[in-house]
Amino acid sequence: MFSTYIRRLSAQSTVAMACTFLASAASAQPSEPIKVGLMLPTSGTFAELGKKVANGFKLYVTENGGKLAGRTVQYVELDDESDPSKANENTNKLIKRDRVDVLVGTIHSGVAMTMARVARDTNTLMIVPNAGAAELTGSMCAPNVFRTSFSNWQPGYASGLLAARKRKTAVTISWKYAAGDESVRGFREGFEKGGGRVIKDLNLPFPNVEFQPLLTELATIKPEAAYVFVAGAGQVKFVRDYAAAGLKNSIPLYGAFITEGTLEAQGEAASGLQTALHYADGLKNAKNDAFIASHKKAFNTVPDVFAVQGYDAAQLFAAGLNAVKGDTGKKAEMIKAMESAKLDSPRGPLSFSKSHNPIQDMYARVAIGKQNVMTDVIVKTLADPSLDCKL
Ligand code: BEZ
Repeated sequence: MFSTYIRRLSAQSTVAMACTFLASAASAQPSEPIKVGLMLPTSGTFAELGKKVANGFKLYVTENGGKLAGRTVQYVELDDESDPSKANENTNKLIKRDRVDVLVGTIHSGVAMTMARVARDTNTLMIVPNAGAAELTGSMCAPNVFRTSFSNWQPGYASGLLAARKRKTAVTISWKYAAGDESVRGFREGFEKGGGRVIKDLNLPFPNVEFQPLLTELATIKPEAAYVFVAGAGQVKFVRDYAAAGLKNSIPLYGAFITEGTLEAQGEAASGLQTALHYADGLKNAKNDAFIASHKKAFNTVPDVFAVQGYDAAQLFAAGLNAVKGDTGKKAEMIKAMESAKLDSPRGPLSFSKSHNPIQDMYARVAIGKQNVMTDVIVKTLADPSLDCKL
């Protein structure tokens, strides 16, 4: 009888001890570091873009004392090489081996689509700080996937409206992958809306930079304008090749990213080029003034759109974390807060559509010296239609 009592008592106290342990483990969790998985390219054509996104993200965290919602931030960084064939393995490493709390990535649309598939299947929070693939906030949209950059359609469409102000025929040149195709589709829609007509689409495989045959064909067609989607290291070479081929004055060149962050390397070849994007150098608002100063102090360089997108990824994550006091277990509450976030971005006010894509102003810019200077707003609060998203 006595021994049964002792056994029951010890069983009860074991349960009580276990409960106490679990309760303290749960309440201890928010004081542990929060793990941020930065899956970005640090090699290849998009390496510089990846670095700028990472710098932007880290800048926001540093401005907040290295913490988000009271928790120290720990980074796990992985070079995705802008290689879609390695994306599944790389994403699984970050989620299953490193157990990151949030996945931040990436630049290349093809890589980002695989990342989003894995994030969706494992219910991991993901923030896309660049890749513009339509599917990310379209047919593949998910409650746990957000984007702080653009859909490829947005800058393409704004560029089409911009070019149509003065030109009525155009040829497009793009890298043959999701981003190139979608950017050109956006351009065509905007250009046709403005009364223009795209005569021909030319392309080459990503990340090929042998532009000469395409430039020769363009010169033969003689459209009133050309629109190009290439980025990163490719954009520097394209703009230089375009000027060297003597096309700069005869066939005005338009694009979204072609002069972003690279004016110093492009020099005179880029002077006067008109582009459309959701950021411009020296954009006049208080947040951007502070952002530029802070970025210069931290990295001794002026920021560009990629730094802004990384910074806003951190701001968006912080909005979710603050709503749950750092408890990432409360995912539904975090997502709700992120969905309704109104961010004070260096690009201007930033909110999110139902599909979790940015709603933002699109600016016309002209390259003067080392700056892409804003001339006017082409479209205010442009949202991607995201027709296939069922959120
Ligand atoms: C993309 O792959 O979506 C992309 C890459 C670089 C610049 C813009 C878009």
